[in-house]
Amino acid sequence: MSNSRDRVPIEPQNIDAPLSQAAVFLVVTVRAGAEAMKHARGVVADISGLVRTVGFRDLQGRLSCNVGIGSNAWDRLGRPTRPAQLRNFAEIRGPVHIAVSTPGDLLFHIRADRADMCFELERLVLDALGDTVTVMDEVQGFRYFDTRDLLGFVDGTENPTGDSLQQASLIQGDDPEFEAGSYVVVQKYMHNLTNWKTLPIATQESIIGRTKLENIELDDSDERKSHKSLTTIVDADGIEHDILRDNMPFGRPGQSEYGTYFIAYARNLWVIEKMLQNMFIGVPDGEYDRILDFSTPVTGTTFFAPSNSMLTALGD
Ligand code: HEM
Repeated sequence: MSNSRDRVPIEPQNIDAPLSQAAVFLVVTVRAGAEAMKHARGVVADISGLVRTVGFRDLQGRLSCNVGIGSNAWDRLGRPTRPAQLRNFAEIRGPVHIAVSTPGDLLFHIRADRADMCFELERLVLDALGDTVTVMDEVQGFRYFDTRDLLGFVDGTENPTGDSLQQASLIQGDDPEFEAGSYVVVQKYMHNLTNWKTLPIATQESIIGRTKLENIELDDSDERKSHKSLTTIVDADGIEHDILRDNMPFGRPGQSEYGTYFIAYARNLWVIEKMLQNMFIGVPDGEYDRILDFSTPVTGTTFFAPSNSMLTALGD
């Protein structure tokens, strides 16, 4: 049976677009002044045209693009209302590690099965934005064996699936005006692989909470909670709150640069924030996520990704 995705490019703001072989994460700030913002607003409102331009050249490449808008940028759009939970990424100072907060007005999360398609769309987006923006960060990610991160573990297994995928990642009727939008948090982590590789595999597995080869979930040891447990959020009513992650490895071995670009979409921003609190402050306090002893975030920014219809309407 043919899939509609074989006929037309994937529409922008498809939060649940398929996992891809390649991705570009582009974060920019918009220059001061109403004119610059007006221009940038027009470009993001027309993003579907650029996605068609590149995506139609190879539909099997499954090009997709999600645009996120930062809290300060949202205020500059001049709209009368704002998404209920949209706020800037707040720095978290743990006992040992810091989740830094870095600027960003617009995020472009570009995914495709071909790196050249990601490159081309990024190039056209930046051409269209011109000198109204300053690039804050730009990362080209690639899919690594068995969807592993550069620590060597399969990354993404416990992502929600089926109906729960949209429930976890899209704003629902409790914020009706912004329904079908999503909160997005990005962090660029740099790994110290030299130190990580000195750990016995069993220690690495207890840090992550899964076995390395077969990806089987493990119970926590008595001493310390694993990454998996610190990021499992259960509320007072026993309800578990999920997020949708699409992390990508990146790196330049010649520069000893090895990283994970963390990106998560959520219906409720507070869920991602709570996970970060647990990781950096620890549970109980002080017993932070040991993944951080080998992974340092150098960026941290929050965005709101509006539904496609709301994004298009920003051009009006
Ligand atoms: C250095 C950065 C990170 C790496 C390499 C990493 C890697 C992993 C791996 C290997 C798993 C287990 C398999 C899976 O279910 O995906 C996992 C699980 C998970 N991670 Fe991360 N992660 C990172 C950062 C984060 C951050 C910053 C958050 C949230 C703010 C997060 C949230 C989660 C969640 C929710 C799970 C699933 C937990 C479960 O229900 O089992 N991760 N991560």
